[in-house]
Formats: sequence, structure tokens, C-alpha cells
Amino acid sequence: MKVFITRNIPDIGPAKLRASGWEIDQWHSDDVIPRATLLEKVHGADAVLSLLTERIDAELLDAAGSQLKVVANLAVGFDNFVVSEMTKRHVIGTNTPDVLTDTTADLAWALLMSTARMLPQAQKYVHDGKWTTWGPLLFRGQDIHHATLGLIGVGRIGAAMARRASGFEMKVVYYDAYRRQDLEEKYGYHYASSVEAVLLQADFVSVHTPYMPETHHLINADRLKMMKSTAILINSARGPIVDPKALYDALHNGTIWAAGLDVTSPEPIHMDDPLLSLENCLIVPHIASASMQTRDNMSELAADNIINVLTHKAPKTPVNKDAVVAQGLA
Ligand code: GLV
Repeated sequence: MKVFITRNIPDIGPAKLRASGWEIDQWHSDDVIPRATLLEKVHGADAVLSLLTERIDAELLDAAGSQLKVVANLAVGFDNFVVSEMTKRHVIGTNTPDVLTDTTADLAWALLMSTARMLPQAQKYVHDGKWTTWGPLLFRGQDIHHATLGLIGVGRIGAAMARRASGFEMKVVYYDAYRRQDLEEKYGYHYASSVEAVLLQADFVSVHTPYMPETHHLINADRLKMMKSTAILINSARGPIVDPKALYDALHNGTIWAAGLDVTSPEPIHMDDPLLSLENCLIVPHIASASMQTRDNMSELAADNIINVLTHKAPKTPVNKDAVVAQGLA
């Protein structure tokens, strides 16, 4: 068996794969593998351990060949997979859900707190030597406690975000295509019948939907205008869910108060992107799942998915069950 790993990742997964005795090839770099090299490297592979930076489409699947059985993404999001092309070829795709839920929500929460209390601006102020006295008007932010958290999407990570809000005695309002009456009954969350209904009442709006054609620019100029002028937008899902031009206008014009972004469109953000000129826009480089423990767990889960498929067992976290059935592993 031949396995190709597309980047340096925590070694726990690659080590497990090497212990199998299979041929393990890895792109030993912290940079994205050039597409042409990737297409060469996957040739003849039975399994590929990919990152969200690699598009797994018809071209790549054809370059790999018909022996390819599984592509294991080191991410919970798999919008880099063209799932229909994979399923058509009976190639199983897997992702890394659950192991990163709390770590991702921790970072989304950190963005919420940092933007509400203006921590990046305050740190810069200290570093710039501007701190001369205690100031009654200095860095007055927004209260987090007892505010309303609006969630767009209440899957695993959205629900983890809501759990964090309970410690701050916040009201939680959510919109999701699937109504979660269990969460409403257990925790008192409030269901809103539309994205707009969330935007109108939330002090903090946190986005937790997958990226797909239906969620492209879900947060656009019209919807930003519905938000309170004191509201803060948090995006730790995927960059293109928010229209970046509309977000710039909203932040620049004071339509909303601030934004905290773990993801941008494009990624990485261009250095001349106007969002970078705004003090009220906190941007970090797509690090929501980046804790030592969670990145180890993601690496191990991706490797386990490969090991299972190559030893004729069901993968732990497939994204296309039809391909699992087609390979007789269901
Ligand atoms: C990261 O964005 C992931 O989807 O895991």
C-alpha cells in the first residue's frame, strides 16, 4: 500500500502509518505543495492524507488512479472535496469532527472577548508607550455578560459556543436549518426562524455553518445593515460565508461595531486588503483548531481513517457513506 501525506503535520498520525509497514511518502514542508507536484505525488497512492488547501477534484482523482481508496482530510470542513467526484469513483472521504469542537469554540470565544474588550488595540496602545494614566474614557468596549449571542448554525461547534455563553449568563438565539428542540428544552436557547431574525436581536453574531453554494456571502451588505450598530461579528467557519467588501463597508461606516475573523476570503488575506486597515477588525490566520493536543488528535484520527480503510474496516468519520458501502466496508 502507498500513502501520500501532503504537508508536515504532527507526527503522531504519520508515525502510526509508518508502523504499518506501508510505503509512506510525505511532502516535508510547511508550505502548500505545488499543484503539479501534488498530481505527480498522488499517482499510484492507495490513500492520501490531505489538508484543506488541497482541492480533491476529478483532476486529482484521475491523476491518482483507480487504486485510490481514501482521502483523509486533516480538518472538519471538507469544502475542498468534490464529494460527487469522489463517490462516483468509490473513493471514501473522511474528516476530523469532534476532536476539534471545543478547541475551535475556544478560539471563536477568544475572538468574541478580544473584540468586545478591544484587546488588540489596548495591547498596541501599551506597546506604543501611550499609557500615561488610568482613563475613564479609555478602551470602552461592549459588555459580554447578559448580552445576546446569535448563532448562525448550531451544529457541534455552534453548540459548544453556546455552552461557553452560559457562563456569562447570555441569552442564546440561534438559526439552523435543523431546529434543535433538545437544546431549547435543555438549555433554554431561543430558536429564530431566519438568519435575519438572529441578526436583528444579537449583540454578538457567530457563524458556524459549513461553506457551500447556499452559504456563499450569507452575511452580505443587506444582512449587515440589520445588525445592531454595537454588534460584533465572529467568523470561525469559512471566509467566503461573509462578503469581505460588505464587511469592510460595515466596519468602516460604523454599521456594526467590530469583527473577529479566524477565516478570510481569500486565504491568506492579501496585504492590501482594506480589512487590514481597520482597527475594529481582528484577524488571525485560520488557527481555531490549533492547540497542541487537538492537532495531535486530528493527525491521529486522519491516520486511523486511512488505516481502517486500507485494512478493510469502516472508517471512523466518513463524509460520503455511499463510497463506504461501495467498498463493502459499511
Ligand atoms: C478547519 O478549518 C477545519 O475545518 O477543521
